Amino acid sequence: MLEVRDLHKAYPIRGGGRVHAVRGVSFEVPTGSTLGVVGESGCGKSTMARMLVGLETPTGGAVLVDGAPYSTGRRPDRRARRRVQMVFQDPHSSLNERFTVGATLREVLAVHKLVPKARRPDRVRELLGQVGLAASTADRYPHELSGGQRQRVGIARALAVDPRILVLDEPVSALDVSVRAEVMNLLIRLRDELALTYVFISHDLSMVRHISDRIAVMYLGRIVELGPWLAVSDRPRHPYTQALHDAVPVADPSAAQGREFDEIRGELPDPAHPPPGCPFHTRCPLVKDACARTDQVLAPVAADHGVACMVVTGQPPEETR
Ligand SMILES: Nc1ncnc2c1ncn2[C@@H]1O[C@H](COP(=O)(O)OP(=O)(O)OP(=O)(O)O)[C@@H](O)[C@H]1O
Ligand SMILES: [Mg+2]
Repeated sequence: MLEVRDLHKAYPIRGGGRVHAVRGVSFEVPTGSTLGVVGESGCGKSTMARMLVGLETPTGGAVLVDGAPYSTGRRPDRRARRRVQMVFQDPHSSLNERFTVGATLREVLAVHKLVPKARRPDRVRELLGQVGLAASTADRYPHELSGGQRQRVGIARALAVDPRILVLDEPVSALDVSVRAEVMNLLIRLRDELALTYVFISHDLSMVRHISDRIAVMYLGRIVELGPWLAVSDRPRHPYTQALHDAVPVADPSAAQGREFDEIRGELPDPAHPPPGCPFHTRCPLVKDACARTDQVLAPVAADHGVACMVVTGQPPEETR
């Protein structure tokens, strides 16, 4: 079980002030399940991902794996860190061009002292097989591979350390549309075969809907909606999620009728100066006076489905400013 409690990250910026990239995010991901995370560019998805895998230290809050705090320590526990691995968006920049695929994977096994040296070539072959690559791929360099093959190597590298949890940050966004489905199917198969837990990040709601058990929607560093995948992707309740949902192109033009929003109005506010109250109120079609004065918290609209919008949930405003 992966647990995130009130996670915060602020970056100091040149000339003073701070960018509030992640502002109080909490969720749980039960073992073997997938949490999809969606939101537009700059909402804090990658910052959160880096904290989940321990590449970044939270400004506040905690990440727990099986109940044990994990990403907080000055002395990171290597065995605990190993359990959570990341797959990056760009398979081009995340692999070392000077090493063959085999050398890259053997290096991971050596650093983590997982497999005796003599058995490493066998383990490399096994890993390549798991991600659907030929054993001969071990002798090739990253530039000799297609985008899809490179991302498979990126997945094999994450799997090399026997992780329990994979944080996948836009893992297919950089790939040709034709290979996206193949890599998605591979990820689903691996999750089910190896009982892995996923946090799957994308800016595209239609991308996460098929792989996720639950979906979290982020806006300006906060989760504004969190619930079962079908409810969030097909019948979203938060005005922001509705806008994301309606922005997904549909083949049938008549289905576009009756949509509430054509597109989200206005610009994403500057994360160095997030608006007070509801972070979405500056762009929201349902905005009320109280929204700018009221901090919104996830309130239940159904079983296991929370929405941080007092207009939708009818929560009485608790004026905080
Ligand atoms: N190292 C950093 N220093 C300063 N600001 C940063 C740093 N990393 C991220 N930010 C800022 O934090 C905010 C969130 O960035 P983040 O990369 O987490 O967004 P994202 O949701 O992953 O976006 P995208 O969809 O474009 O990948 C942005 O305003 C970004 O400029
Ligand atoms: Mg990102």
